[in-house]
Amino acid sequence: MSDEFKRPSFSLPVKILHWLIAIHMIALIALGWWMIDLTYFSPWYNTAPYLHKAFGVLVFLLGVALLVIRRIKAAPDALQSHTRLEKVASKLAHLILFASVITIPISGYVFTTSKGEGISMFGLFDLPAFFAVSDTVRDFAISFHIYASYGLLAIIAAHAGGALKHHFIDKDRTLRRMTW
Ligand code: HEM
Ligand code: HEM
Repeated sequence: MSDEFKRPSFSLPVKILHWLIAIHMIALIALGWWMIDLTYFSPWYNTAPYLHKAFGVLVFLLGVALLVIRRIKAAPDALQSHTRLEKVASKLAHLILFASVITIPISGYVFTTSKGEGISMFGLFDLPAFFAVSDTVRDFAISFHIYASYGLLAIIAAHAGGALKHHFIDKDRTLRRMTW
């Protein structure tokens, strides 16, 4: 029996986390892009960054949960119909996506808390500023946050485009293994 039949789909927790993370990441990029142009007179001037930071920390925790689950339970093997190039490209995209879910929120946390200010988690509690950083590190964290987020958009487009191509053109099970 091939591995495809032994482990046909991603596990339910992985599917749930994948789609929660995907929605959050896309919404956070849109929110970040929109909020930086808000003026002091907008009613969203304080609320938008507050939500961006709290949801940004949340997506980091979801990303850590996904990584932990993936350590415990392996992903199903790539479909045998995928070409070698498709297998390598999708592995690389997954690696960058995993890295982004962890490093983009960390960079946001680093520059946001660099002056000792904590982050309010939906008004429930404050995430403290764990360490002070120099201005150079702070500037690097800001640049990383911006460029990595926009670079991520290109990877998401390629990743989602690949999944849709497999579904609608190749008509294989790639997308269905991540859905229900
Ligand atoms: C920000 C958005 C997204 C992120 C961060 C993301 C992240 C990931 C990651 C890390 C994996 C690997 C999962 C693992 O090995 O456990 C994965 C797999 C997958 N994603 Fe996404 N994803 C995103 C959006 C999407 C979208 C929009 C689609 C569909 C249109 C999609 C479809 C899939 C599919 C089908 C797989 C399984 C691929 C395979 O079997 O090799 N993803 N995604
Ligand atoms: C995956 C999670 C995140 C994504 C995808 C994301 C994305 C973005 C984007 C696209 C921008 C606009 C950048 C620009 O064009 O200047 C932005 C700005 C910002 N982000 Fe995030 N972000 C995330 C998490 C976080 C976290 C966890 C924090 C803080 C704890 C944070 C704090 C900020 C702040 C303060 C700004 C405004 C920066 C400025 O005024 O120039 N972000 N983010």
